[in-house]
Amino acid sequence: MNVMVTGAGKAVGLGFNLVVRYLEAGDTVVATIRKECHELFELKKKYGDKLITLTMDIGITESVEGAAKALAMKLPHLDLIINNAVQVSPDCDKGFFEANLDYIPNTVNITSVGAMRVVKAFYPMLKKSPITALVINISSEAGSITRCYRTAQIDYGMAKAALNMATMNIYNTLKDERKVNIFCVHPGWIRTDGREDNPAPLSSYEAAGILQELFEKRREDFEGHRFITNENEDYPF
Ligand SMILES: NC(=O)c1ccc[n+]([C@@H]2O[C@H](COP(=O)([O-])OP(=O)(O)OC[C@H]3O[C@@H](n4cnc5c(N)ncnc54)[C@H](OP(=O)(O)O)[C@@H]3O)[C@@H](O)[C@H]2O)c1
Repeated sequence: MNVMVTGAGKAVGLGFNLVVRYLEAGDTVVATIRKECHELFELKKKYGDKLITLTMDIGITESVEGAAKALAMKLPHLDLIINNAVQVSPDCDKGFFEANLDYIPNTVNITSVGAMRVVKAFYPMLKKSPITALVINISSEAGSITRCYRTAQIDYGMAKAALNMATMNIYNTLKDERKVNIFCVHPGWIRTDGREDNPAPLSSYEAAGILQELFEKRREDFEGHRFITNENEDYPF
């Protein structure tokens, strides 16, 4: 299987660990990055041509389109895209009256529109997959409007809610063709900062393994709820 993971350039992060999991499973993996990553370089030594690094800034349409063209020269198709990259503003932890609201559009541009750019540019490669291709948008429970309890993380919550909406729109666009499936997924509470004193129950490597299994369970499901958790449960939009 050919898999692409965006935002894979942080060794303790979820994206990098998804790359590791799929390489371990024998898949060909495209890891998208914005800057050189030493740990990916080390993986490349071990996995050779099975690992392709692709430079792409998902906030810029030309960058995404250029990356898609470059990848099409190297790989015939993609079977799975995991939109994992995220960006939050420096005021993410501030409340409504303290946060600079002008930071919000950039978070939405990267975290939600960025994932849409990726699906649009790489769609021709998804369509060529010999199996049902799958797009996973890594969302968050923070993107649920129904369950929202926070007064901070405004930009993050808005961006993930917008990503969820994008998921539904793309699903509606593609579902009749039954060729490319799409979900948004809350990946669990994860120590993506790599800190042992982080109370989150899952390491990025553990979380990546759980998600890898989950994605294959849902690949052919065109009927179920589109926003799911790492425990394969429906989550309210
Ligand atoms: N940790 C949790 O408990 C938790 C809970 C719910 C959801 N999530 C979600 O899980 C995912 C992974 O979390 P994480 O903490 O591992 O993420 P992260 O490290 O904060 O971000 C992942 C990557 O996104 C990349 N990125 C940022 N802006 C970009 C851009 N313009 N173009 C391309 N890439 C860009 C970063 O690349 P650079 O290295 O170049 O900056 C970074 O390596 C995120 O979507 C997050 O929202 C996490």
